[in-house]
Parts: sequence; C-alpha cells; structure tokens
Amino acid sequence: MVEPSADHRLPPGQGGRAVLVRPTLLEDAAAVAGLLNKLAEKAHADHPVTTARVETYLRHCESHTDMYVNYVAETAASADEDGIARGDGTGGGDGILGGSRHGADAAAIRLTVIGFLSAVFYETPFHDKGTCLINELIVDADRRGAGVGRALVETAKAEARRRGMDEIEVGTEKTNLAAQRFYQRVGFDEEFVLLSQDFHKQEEP
Ligand SMILES: CC(C)(COP(=O)(O)OP(=O)(O)OC[C@H]1O[C@@H](n2cnc3c(N)ncnc32)[C@H](O)[C@@H]1OP(=O)(O)O)[C@@H](O)C(=O)NCCC(=O)NCCS
Repeated sequence: MVEPSADHRLPPGQGGRAVLVRPTLLEDAAAVAGLLNKLAEKAHADHPVTTARVETYLRHCESHTDMYVNYVAETAASADEDGIARGDGTGGGDGILGGSRHGADAAAIRLTVIGFLSAVFYETPFHDKGTCLINELIVDADRRGAGVGRALVETAKAEARRRGMDEIEVGTEKTNLAAQRFYQRVGFDEEFVLLSQDFHKQEEP
C-alpha cells in the first residue's frame, strides 16, 4: 500500500479542529466511498460507489504509483479527541495534529475522514514533464469553508511540483459553479474547456 509521505497539516479551521492530509490507505475505502456517494448524489449519478470498487481502484493505483495519487483529509472524531490531538505535545501546541497516521501519538486518536482527492499524472508531447489532473475532490458538507479543500489541492500541487510536472488541471461539471469559484480561489484559471462524451448515455435506448 502507499506509505504516508509528507503530511500536510492545517491549523484548526471552523470548529477548532486540526486537520491532517495524508495518502489514502486501503482501510479508508469505506469512508472514501461514503464521501464519493455524496458527490454522486450531487452529480445525479445513477449507481452508488461501493467500498469494494474503491478498494479495487486503490489497489490499481498501488500498482501504478507513477500515475496516481490519492489523499484523504482527516480530523479528530469528536471535540474530546481533538483535545488529545492538540495536547500530545508533538504538534507544537498550536492545534496541529502531531505525528503521521501511523505515528504512536496519532494511533491513540480516533480520526475521521472528511475529505478526499484523487489525481492522475500524465505526459503529452507538449507537456513532456507532465500534467497533474485532479479527478475527484470532495469535502464533507459539514466541514466545508475551513480550508480542507485548499489543503488537499495544495498537497496535490506540491506532489506534482516534486515530480517536476508542468501544470495541474481539473474538470468540473459546467453547472457546478461553486466548485469553479473554489478552484479560482485556489489559483486555477479557465484557460481550457473540457468537453466530454458519455458512451453509456449514448448507448441507452
Ligand atoms: C469544492 C469543495 C471541495 C471546496 O472545499 P472546501 O473545504 O469547502 O474549500 P476551502 O474551505 O478550502 O476553500 C478555499 C477557498 O475557496 C473558497 N470557496 C470554497 N467554496 C466556495 C464557493 N462555493 N464559492 C466561492 N468560494 C468558495 C473559500 O472561501 C476559500 O477562499 P479563501 O481561502 O480565499 O478564503 C467542497 O465545496 C465540495 O466538496 N464540494 C462538493 C464536491 C465538488 O463539487 N467537488 C469538485 C468537483 S471536481
């Protein structure tokens, strides 16, 4: 499985909870499926994303780490546990989670997944250093507006830069103006338009 690399930590946002961004693990599959289903509801998708599907996807990514990254954002599951996160002495006392997901301190804290980002890296003849394409991004509806989406995007950007990529891009539904405003706030512009063709919809009688 993908091992946690550099963790992106956020100071407490709304509600005073610290947030940790780290690579997605197989054990996150159920939580990620739950988040994606909320996104699917918004996009009016006709079939749910199962935990098994997310596990299959994560295993596929694991075999192609040159092409895929997946990150989750997580935070303490309750206010009491958040107190543990802040009081463990490793986070500098500023509300930042101390230790990685696998660290001894973090192991004592019950964490809950509140955000997910998946991205793929690819080359084109023009972009020989490579492009990072964000495929999915979702933050739990109760945790929006606290910098979690930005932290996930910044983590993907940092990884793309670390890999020497030229650029980062994302497609959103034309009607998803909120996401477009979000992406503009975090530095994207509308230089390109993404057109698509859904084979399954075309095949429907
Ligand atoms: C889009 C989404 C990921 C943003 O996550 P978030 O955690 O709420 O975003 P952040 O709190 O990190 O916001 C970062 C910046 O974007 C701005 N922003 C976020 N949502 C916004 C909105 N709907 N309209 C305008 N600005 C917005 C924030 O104000 C913030 O600006 P600032 O840092 O300059 O103050 C989240 O709303 C979401 O999950 N939406 C549903 C799923 C979706 O549409 N995903 C994108 C499909 S690819």
